[in-house]
Amino acid sequence: MVRMDAPVSEAFLRGMPKVELHLHIEGTLEPESMFVLAERNRIRLPWPDVEALRAAYAFSDLQSFLDVYYRGADVLRTAEDFYELAWAWCRRAAADHTRHAEVFFDPQTHTGRGIALAAVIDGLEAAFHRAERELGLHVAMIPCFVRHLDEAAALATLEAARPWWDRFVAFGLDSAELGNPPEKFAAAFAAVRAAGLRVVAHAGEEGPPAYILGALDRLGAVRIDHGVRCLEDEAVVARLVREQIPLTVCPLSNVRLRVFHRIEDHNLCELVARGLCVTINSDDPAYFGGYLGDNYVAVARAFNLGRPAMVRLAHNAISAAFVDDAYRASLRAELDAYVGS
Ligand code: ADE
Ligand code: ZN
Repeated sequence: MVRMDAPVSEAFLRGMPKVELHLHIEGTLEPESMFVLAERNRIRLPWPDVEALRAAYAFSDLQSFLDVYYRGADVLRTAEDFYELAWAWCRRAAADHTRHAEVFFDPQTHTGRGIALAAVIDGLEAAFHRAERELGLHVAMIPCFVRHLDEAAALATLEAARPWWDRFVAFGLDSAELGNPPEKFAAAFAAVRAAGLRVVAHAGEEGPPAYILGALDRLGAVRIDHGVRCLEDEAVVARLVREQIPLTVCPLSNVRLRVFHRIEDHNLCELVARGLCVTINSDDPAYFGGYLGDNYVAVARAFNLGRPAMVRLAHNAISAAFVDDAYRASLRAELDAYVGS
């Protein structure tokens, strides 16, 4: 990574057209909206007010976050709730100059509470279609299996989602990583691939590099979500570099979940220097203190990066997106025009 260039301005980064590949829509639920939905749906939250909820965002690891996150997601009950959640994020993303996003959602987090999958998907899709029409933001959907549940539940979810398979660009794997290795879901992802869908997986966030290899070899993942622990195993790094498997890195998330102590300790520059295809993403921005633009700005400031390095990261996300050639070329052209202007 070139570090001798003049530091890039915040205005340049904020205005840069962007692609986001690692965002959980449930993780965009802002505290104020959580309370509005709780009241509307007559749900009692374990926090008395927004201030107390925000105070609960002092996470010690992934599980401590997931406990709050799943509690928060419980306020989402109707298609209208999912629509409002997604539309609020679309507006923020468009203001952040996001042009294309591939957005995760967790079907089981909702169907497990008795919410119909159709309500979840109809609500999300209505917002994403509106974003395409009104905001120039294109959103693709990636349902994720939650790895704290068993493989039979993942297979049942895949089957329940059959009517919408052609609306998804991939299936993913998220939730509690440690103790839930990728191979637990080998048959589920074999079925995903048999359905003609791509595979992505969270791996190497808290889990060891072996989980990254497992995601590649046992699940057929073509993109790794997080992956930052790959540097602990040279063979894993070599494999990721050789195959140019993209990593969807989430810097502010990694700091909030204590994968790294401070943003300055993040290994993003080492990952880039090793030749990995690194992208910048926000993960669960309402919980981690920053949306996509904030992540770009935090990285540039922490490492004193210049324009070329930051534009390269933005180009990597375009390379790693699940889009056709013509659309990829148009995303590239827009970014090039912005940089050249
Ligand atoms: N679900 C939402 N955010 C997640 C993360 N960072 N890791 C695993 N599962 C998640
Ligand atoms: Zn994630």
